[in-house]
Amino acid sequence: MFNLQDKVAIVTGGSSGIGLATVKAFVEKGAKVILSDINTEAGNQHVASIRETGGEVTFFEANVAEESAVQALVKFAVDTYGKVDIIVNNAGIGVLASTHELTYEEYHRVIKVNQDSIFYGSKYAIQEFLKTGSGGAIVNVASILGTVGEAGAFAYNASKGAANLMTKSLAAEYSSKNIRINSVCPGYVESGMVNREALGDFYEGLVARHPIGRLGQPEEIAHAIVFLCENEFVTGCNLLVDGGYTAI
Ligand SMILES: NC(=O)c1ccc[n+]([C@@H]2O[C@H](COP(=O)([O-])OP(=O)(O)OC[C@H]3O[C@@H](n4cnc5c(N)ncnc54)[C@H](O)[C@@H]3O)[C@@H](O)[C@H]2O)c1
Repeated sequence: MFNLQDKVAIVTGGSSGIGLATVKAFVEKGAKVILSDINTEAGNQHVASIRETGGEVTFFEANVAEESAVQALVKFAVDTYGKVDIIVNNAGIGVLASTHELTYEEYHRVIKVNQDSIFYGSKYAIQEFLKTGSGGAIVNVASILGTVGEAGAFAYNASKGAANLMTKSLAAEYSSKNIRINSVCPGYVESGMVNREALGDFYEGLVARHPIGRLGQPEEIAHAIVFLCENEFVTGCNLLVDGGYTAI
């Protein structure tokens, strides 16, 4: 097992939702965590309250759409804790629009944040994994919408489909170096971007699409991310954690 005790983990989009739950799950396992986000205020607040409980966590502001920012994030982890063992490419955004009305700028903003970020995060983390020679783990947070289509989610579908195949491509290339790359594909999860207040009447319709009869919780996705890091025979996996969304 890839024991998470004293491992150094980077989590992007760690100020909210699935990213924050993952930061907390890693800290509970004894990892040292860099919580990274563009939301500095929330990130620093969460870091302070996790530290009060004795957890080892540090905030670093990075916009994952920018290569230089992600490069600086990985360097910060190495400067702070001496190495990097894990990166969770989690930060993501969505845009809902009819495709015939979608502007290139809206489309490309989603691709940059959700897809290009996986290239940057993986590239710079793998450079560090190869330097130490002790392997590493990457988890990309994809989506059910990397597997099935959704009306009005063209850019998001494209980015999450890419996330799943980028995962397999990297696994084909680096698994022999003891570097494992997996993705988690959540169904709809209560978070900053998905909640009853934000979705209004649409909320119950979403629940109905999950045979389990509810939306997911961020902690349930974090639990799967921990599994993907710990289990040393899992690589190239696109793990659905979706309450049965894609079963029907
Ligand atoms: N919530 C869901 O239903 C759901 C389902 C499937 C997949 N996902 C994916 O899970 C991931 C996390 O989403 P969430 O639901 O926890 O959402 P969230 O909105 O609660 O959290 C996303 C975090 O990412 C940060 N972020 C946004 N753009 C960024 C950027 N350019 N650089 C750095 N940080 C940035 C935000 O500040 C926020 O803290 C995303 O990749 C999302 O696509 C979510």
